[in-house]
Formats: sequence, C-alpha cells, structure tokens
Amino acid sequence: MPTGHLLATPEAMITAAWDSGFRRLPHMAVTPDADPLVTRMREFGTTIFAEMSALAIRTGAVNLGQGFPDTDGPKEMLDAAAEAIHSGHNQYPPGPGIPELRRAVAEHQRTWWGLEYDPDGEILATAGATEAIAATILALCEPGDEVICFEPYYDSYAASIALAGAVRRPVTLRPSGDRYEFDPGELRAAFGPRTRMLLLNSPHNPTGKVFSREELSLLASLCIEHDVVAVTDEVYEHLVFSDAGSPHLPIATLPGMRERTLCISSAGKTFSCTGWKIGWASGPARLVSAVLRVKQFLTFANGGPFQPAVALALGLPASYFTGFRDDLETRRDLLCQGLTDSGFRVFRPEGTYFVTADISPLGGTDGVEFCRSLPERCGVVAVPTQVFYDHPDEGRRIVRFAFCKRREVLDEAISRLRRLG
Ligand SMILES: Cc1ncc(COP(=O)(O)O)c(C=O)c1O
Repeated sequence: MPTGHLLATPEAMITAAWDSGFRRLPHMAVTPDADPLVTRMREFGTTIFAEMSALAIRTGAVNLGQGFPDTDGPKEMLDAAAEAIHSGHNQYPPGPGIPELRRAVAEHQRTWWGLEYDPDGEILATAGATEAIAATILALCEPGDEVICFEPYYDSYAASIALAGAVRRPVTLRPSGDRYEFDPGELRAAFGPRTRMLLLNSPHNPTGKVFSREELSLLASLCIEHDVVAVTDEVYEHLVFSDAGSPHLPIATLPGMRERTLCISSAGKTFSCTGWKIGWASGPARLVSAVLRVKQFLTFANGGPFQPAVALALGLPASYFTGFRDDLETRRDLLCQGLTDSGFRVFRPEGTYFVTADISPLGGTDGVEFCRSLPERCGVVAVPTQVFYDHPDEGRRIVRFAFCKRREVLDEAISRLRRLG
C-alpha cells in the first residue's frame, strides 16, 4: 500500500495539518489559551480519518478507508503533464483556466451529456471539485441562506456551507433493498423561503446511489417552483455500473434546469489523478462569473502543467472511460462478494468508488467503534458513515469501504475480512 498517499483527500487534509502542528495554534492566539478558530468552523475539528489512517499505519492494516486509487491514470495524460513541465507551462495559467482545457470540458459536456456551454464565459477551471464547491457556495449564499443536500454528504459540503454562514438542510437517504432512497415528503418540506441552493451529488458518495430520472425530475420541479439554484457534484459521472437502475443524467439536461444549474466535476476520479486537483464548473455565464469572482481570491489559478494534460485526457476515446468503469465494476463485485461472505449486509452501489455495508449481522451497533476495532480484529480499515450525517443515528450501523484499489490489495483485504466470520 502506498502509505504516502494516506492523507491525500480533502477530508484528511485538515486532520493531516492538525496532526502536524495545528494543535499548537491556541498558543498563537492574541489571548493565551483562547481558541483562535472562528466559531463557525469549530465543529470541524479532528475527523475520524486521521484516527483511522493512524490506526492503519500502526497496525499495518489494508486501508480501504480513503477514496483514492492506488494506480496511475492513462499514460498519455501522464506524458502530457511531464511534457508540459519541461516545455515551460510552469507559471500562472489564466484564472478561468487555459482555453484548451475549457474547450475540452465544453466538448466533453456536449459529447457525453448533450450539454452546450461556451468555453469563453460558461466554463471555469478550479482547484479540484472541492474549490469549485466552496467558491460556489461562498459566491451564491448569503448568511442564513439554506442549502439542501442529501445526507450522508461529502464532508467538504458542511464546511463550505458553514464558512459562508449558510445553513445546511439535509434530507436523509435510507437503504431500501439495495438502493438508498429519500422520502419525497421530507424533500418537499426541506424547500422553503430561505432555500437558496440544492447541492446534489450523483453518483453519490458514500452510498453509490445514482439518482433516477424520476427523482431528478422531482428535484428539478422543486428547484423551479422555489427559484433555487442547483449545484451538482458529478465527480463520479463516468463511474456508473452496468447494472445501475439509471444511467448518469446531469440535472442540467432536464427542462428549465440549464439556466439554474452549475455542474461541477473534476479529473481526479475519472483519470486516477486525485493529487492533481484539476476541477471545473460549467453553467450559465452569470453563475460562472459569480463563482470566478470568489475563486480568483481563493487560489486564483492552479495546476499549470496539469491543465493541458487533463484537456488531452478529456478527449480520450470513449473506450478509455468505459474500460475504466468496467474494470472498477469487477473490483466492486469482488469486494461486495467478499463483504457478503464475511457476514456484512451489503448495499450494492450503482456507481462511485465505494460500497456501504451494515454491520448489524456481525453484531455491530456503532460504526465508529466497529471501525476503531477493525484493524486490530482483522487488519482492514473502513470508515464509519455516521460522521457524514446531521442525524448520525441514521448511519450508525453503516460503514464504507473503497474498492478503487488494485486487485491484489482487495484480495488481501477480503482474506483478512474473512477472520470476522
Ligand atoms: C463527492 C465528492 N466530491 C468531491 C470530491 C473532491 O474532488 P476533488 O479532489 O476534485 O476536489 C470527492 C473526493 O473524494 C468526492 O467524493
């Protein structure tokens, strides 16, 4: 296992910084012993990921906790980045991204999803999807505005909403058979006069849910009725498996939605380059330009030599995208079977890098305790999903495993998990 990458995801970055010295920050406060951190960020202290990663290192466990691949992306893309570094692409790229990348994103949106965007004004390159999400929320939400998102949610959503002084309104996804579903009544009730934004992640981390056309149509009609902006996190857009109930469908393609939707995605998951942090947002010019106004003061620009490489990768033949997905699907099947054989109740994901599983059949009642003991019990690390909920009881017995790992790593994890039975 490449342990050097253990703390590579945004969810772990805070904790890596924390472990490497931010703990001492109170000494830097004007008033000794006062916590200098703004109150709105205090709920985001040490996360479970630092603890789990430290456990993985201490016990030599196989880390299926974090969502990064342990192989590199397409060779053409890697070569293009190396070539860009050696041919002078090492200074600030333009704030909105190099034209080549913006054109490639526009072409990708047209080819795959039938969405038309003007590369000059309707597309913006960002430092990963994470920056696009943060800049979008900071640009579009006034303090007190409400943001609807489905829980369990990707952890940066809550932090970005808090930074903006906005309020999150989670709607719960609950397992029903193999799929996760939401209660349409609960969703309708979440929309109100303060709702500014729907933040929608499909395919969804951590549940692996792919929202169906019917579900998206309900969401779209509520956005239109309440004049709400839809912001979509589509980083797993190419990772929908062959047996999913629906293909990936950007909500922007539904009637009346293009003009109120900002689509966000990134290269990290599709091209196995999570460390490059090249992302993008596409949408109507007035939304994109608002986001750019904020983004220019966050990073201004990033990833000079990686932008042309990602532009090239976006234009790879369809066989790259389907081949990558098919290969990941076999790894999904392998891990799902291994987890089932070890006694978990598995919720088979329709997409993404992750599978969630109920620990109740193994006698588990609390995912955090379960994950804390898992490395000692069998040498594997997983992540408790209750940390992604505002209502942790909803996910108390559900844990998440990543299958974006080499087959031999998964085989080893599976043989270790058998010790649980
Ligand atoms: C749902 C979701 N959104 C966004 C991200 C982060 O994307 P990026 O690395 O491009 O910032 C991740 C990474 O795990 C994710 O799972």
